[in-house]
Amino acid sequence: MNIREATLDDMIPMQNCNLHNLPENYQMKYYFYHSLTWPQLSYVAEDEKGRIIGYVLAKLEEDPSAEPHGHITSLSVMRTYRRLGVAEKLMTQSQNAMRDVFNCKYVSLHVRKSNRAALQLYRDTLKFTVQDIEKKYYADGEDAYACRKILKEE
Ligand code: ACO
Repeated sequence: MNIREATLDDMIPMQNCNLHNLPENYQMKYYFYHSLTWPQLSYVAEDEKGRIIGYVLAKLEEDPSAEPHGHITSLSVMRTYRRLGVAEKLMTQSQNAMRDVFNCKYVSLHVRKSNRAALQLYRDTLKFTVQDIEKKYYADGEDAYACRKILKEE
């Protein structure tokens, strides 16, 4: 298993992985937008045959109302490769690039209230904190925890 920066060629297998693992899906142009704009922030995990078995899709949030910061758009790992530390490694790579390449002070993400596995990963393993609950954030009406992790102390 190998973890490396995602390239444009990875966007179709990443979308495939996303479709397998999450109800939040995106058009291909959104994947390309991430890869073309912030190529340093998205990573893939591949098996020994070079098949994508996990990814993190990430970007910079440049909303003028907030300090520029990193944002995790989507993270998933194929079922048979879970609990091997793949997601933790993908997240760490992306967070390091946010801090070192873009000087981000913090990284944000949303996670479903019911997503126990992801919440444990973010809160307990990666030390994110829950900032807020965003009511009906998801298309099916479920609430999201808005989470954040400081990458750089002032
Ligand atoms: N139950 C409880 N804790 C878990 C679980 C689980 N099923 N999975 C991970 N964790 C926690 C554990 O503390 C784990 O450490 P441990 O194995 O030593 O106990 C730690 O997170 C690290 O786990 P990893 O092995 O790095 O996580 P994995 O590679 O299995 O991927 C993920 C976790 C991404 C949540 C995976 O289960 C998945 O793809 N789920 C479906 C998609 C999804 O929910 N993605 C996140 C949506 S939110 C977003 O995209 C911003």
